[in-house]
Amino acid sequence: MESLLSMKSLSVDEIYSLLNQAENCRKGEHILHQPKTAALLFFEPSTRTKMSFEMAAHRLGISLLHFSVDSSSVQKGESLYDTVKTVESIGGDLAVIRHPDDAYYKNLKDVNVPIVNAGDGKGEHPTQCLLDLLTIYQEFGTFQNLNVVIAGDILHSRVARSNAYALRKLGANVKFSAPSGWRDHKLPYGYISMDDAVEQSDVLMLLRVQRERHEESQNSMEQDYLTRYGLTMQREKKMKKNSIILHPAPVNRGVEIDSRLVECERSRIFKQMENGVAIRMAIMNKLLAKGGKLNVVAN
Ligand code: CP
Repeated sequence: MESLLSMKSLSVDEIYSLLNQAENCRKGEHILHQPKTAALLFFEPSTRTKMSFEMAAHRLGISLLHFSVDSSSVQKGESLYDTVKTVESIGGDLAVIRHPDDAYYKNLKDVNVPIVNAGDGKGEHPTQCLLDLLTIYQEFGTFQNLNVVIAGDILHSRVARSNAYALRKLGANVKFSAPSGWRDHKLPYGYISMDDAVEQSDVLMLLRVQRERHEESQNSMEQDYLTRYGLTMQREKKMKKNSIILHPAPVNRGVEIDSRLVECERSRIFKQMENGVAIRMAIMNKLLAKGGKLNVVAN
C-alpha cells in the first residue's frame, strides 16, 4: 500500500491487516518509527478526522507540519499539486488531504509522497470507512451476511460510497435508504424505506445531511426529515435486539436522528470516533513502514 485513496483499491487481505493492526494499537501496542514528518492538508472543515490524525501522529511519534488554507500560499493561487510538491521537497514523508474536488488525487500522480485521502468531494472517505469497519467487526466478529443499511443523503456522501464498496467486498448485504432526491442510481444497491431499514438491519449507518453540497432547491427536503426519513424514538424501538447505530458525525441532532438516541445503548457513534485514532495509527504505520525502521513496543 503506497497511498490510501479509495476503498475500491484495497484488497480484503489489506483491509483485515489494517483492522488487526488497529486492534493492536488500541491495546497499546505503539509502533515507533525513525523520525517521520506528515502534513495534514485540509481544504474543507474537519473536527474528527483532523484531530484523530493529530492524535495518531502524536502516539506514533510522527511530527506534523503546520498548514492552514487561510494562512498558506493557496491564498496566492498556489495549486494543490504545487502545495503537495512543496511538502515533498522540504522532506515531508506523508500528506493527508481533504479536498472539495472529487478524485483530486488524479492530479497528484507525479508527486513522490504517500497520500491518505481524508475525503474527496462526493467521492470517498476511506479512513472513515475503515474505522466504521473496525467498529462493526468489534461488534459482530464478521461481515459475512450482515445486513447493513446506509441511510440518508446518499447522493452527496463519500462515507456511503466507501462503505458500500468495502462492505459488499467483505460479504455484507448492503442496502440504501434515502429520500428520492438524494438517491444515486449509478450505484448498484437497492433502496428500502426507513421503516423497513430499522427492522431489517444489523447495522444502521445514518448519514449526515450534507447542507454544504446542496443546491438551494434542495433545502426544503430537510422539512420533516426526521419523521419521514430519520431515526425517531418510535423507529428505534423496532430495531433488532443486537443491532447497532453508526453515524460518521458531525450529527445534525433532531434531523438524521432524535437527539436522545445519539448516546443510546445501541449507538456506537462515540466508539467510532475512538476507533478513528487506532485506524489512523494503523494506516500511517503501514504507509511509513516502507523503508522505515520499525520497533514494536507493548505498553
Ligand atoms: N466524520 C468526519 O469526517 O468528521 P469531520 O468532518 O469532523 O472530520
